[in-house]
Amino acid sequence: MIKDKISKIVSLCKRRGFIFPSSEIYGGFGSSYDFGPLGVEMKRNLKQAWWEEMINNHDNIVGLDAAILMNPKVWEASGHLSGFSDELVECKECKKRFKQEEIKDNKCPECGGKLFKPRKFNLMMKTFVGAVEDKASIAYLRAETCQGIYMNFENVLNSMRLKIPFGIAQIGKAFRNEVNPKNFIFRTREFEQMEMQWFCHPKDANKWFNFWKKERINWYLKLGIKKKDLRAVEISAKQRAHYAQKQVDIEYRFPFGWGEIEGIHNRGDWDLSNHAKHSGKDLTYFDEEKKEKYIPHIIETSIGVERSLFAFLVNAYEEVKGGRTKTTKAVKDTEIVLKIDKKLAPIKVAVLPLVKNNPKIVKKAKEIYKTLKPHFVCLYDQVGSIGRRYRRQDEVGTIYCLTCDFETLKQNDVTIRDRDTMKQKRVKIKDLVKVLKEKLEN
Ligand code: GAP
Repeated sequence: MIKDKISKIVSLCKRRGFIFPSSEIYGGFGSSYDFGPLGVEMKRNLKQAWWEEMINNHDNIVGLDAAILMNPKVWEASGHLSGFSDELVECKECKKRFKQEEIKDNKCPECGGKLFKPRKFNLMMKTFVGAVEDKASIAYLRAETCQGIYMNFENVLNSMRLKIPFGIAQIGKAFRNEVNPKNFIFRTREFEQMEMQWFCHPKDANKWFNFWKKERINWYLKLGIKKKDLRAVEISAKQRAHYAQKQVDIEYRFPFGWGEIEGIHNRGDWDLSNHAKHSGKDLTYFDEEKKEKYIPHIIETSIGVERSLFAFLVNAYEEVKGGRTKTTKAVKDTEIVLKIDKKLAPIKVAVLPLVKNNPKIVKKAKEIYKTLKPHFVCLYDQVGSIGRRYRRQDEVGTIYCLTCDFETLKQNDVTIRDRDTMKQKRVKIKDLVKVLKEKLEN
């Protein structure tokens, strides 16, 4: 049953253009996925919602877009080259690697072969930069986006004339050579992170940690995640990331169990002190008013784009037995409705002519579609019965369906159908942009 829900969502994602397996015609590639036309809209909306929340809604958080490839010394100083690893057991015969808990009877779970002793395997993705593939040309694809923020701490501070406390936020790709990628887009080797690093006085770190924890939990609730499916878990010292003095994971209840979607970390002065030491650059902050010099402490909020998008999809997925649309018998079986928040839904408005064989209605519907398209992500559909078309839109979470009918030709109005209530209201065509904007923004 649990597996059933995930496989239904995976199948919906493929069928309706949200998410496809990468390089599928060659049999796929590990845990790589591609975002299709609807998936990419939803992903853009999710990133926009985060950006608005973190940057537009705060006076003292600014954005950044740092390079993925950085000087390898960054990863030495950050502790990732020595400390960012999983303990794994390797098979002497087939060379596959497993986590200790996957091993039974001290044999390879795959081929039954003998095993080496457990060893640490680094998760950093290696590459070569330049024409020669030697030790000196090794570089790493970043394992977390925030290191680019630390590299630019001084640049941003000085160019933007900021004062502590302030934040730097960034959205970008991160890479980890995960040994055990699993659960669709939950754990992959290539993913995107949305991270905000909050630089504060050491004395205030605890206060800000609690502040950001609350803010971030509220963000999920505002976007419709059900309270019962969200929790914050404090991580013990033994399990914490190597850079964290304190760590709370925000977890979502997926059908396969609770899973972390965001980490809130008190990184203390770990990053700036280590980078100062390794680079020889003074990264202290000078408070002009208090005449005080110190290394700022960092509170980090770090969320995975794909993982949280997955949580929003699971949260939105509903099946209605017997069907919601009453128009035809053919659609009376189980219907899927994606109740995604207005901000995140990939399509906001669908324009549907009631019948496709009336040229006047079709012409009018196409005109309306053209008028709305510059304002909203919009879709035109005239294929199949109106019931089936409503159903197709509900399945991808379209917020409003506009129907042009015979009345439209006489009254110059259309019906607006709400995805969740299925209530319909007539609105004059001339008022459509204004009315839809109001509805979508409130
Ligand atoms: N800078 C801190 C940091 O990277 P993290 O807990 O390792 O912290 C933060 O990662 C978030 O990034 C996670 O909560 C998750 O949403 C996402 N993430 C991490 N590894 C991932 C993976 N292999 N696949 C997909 N998302 C991942």
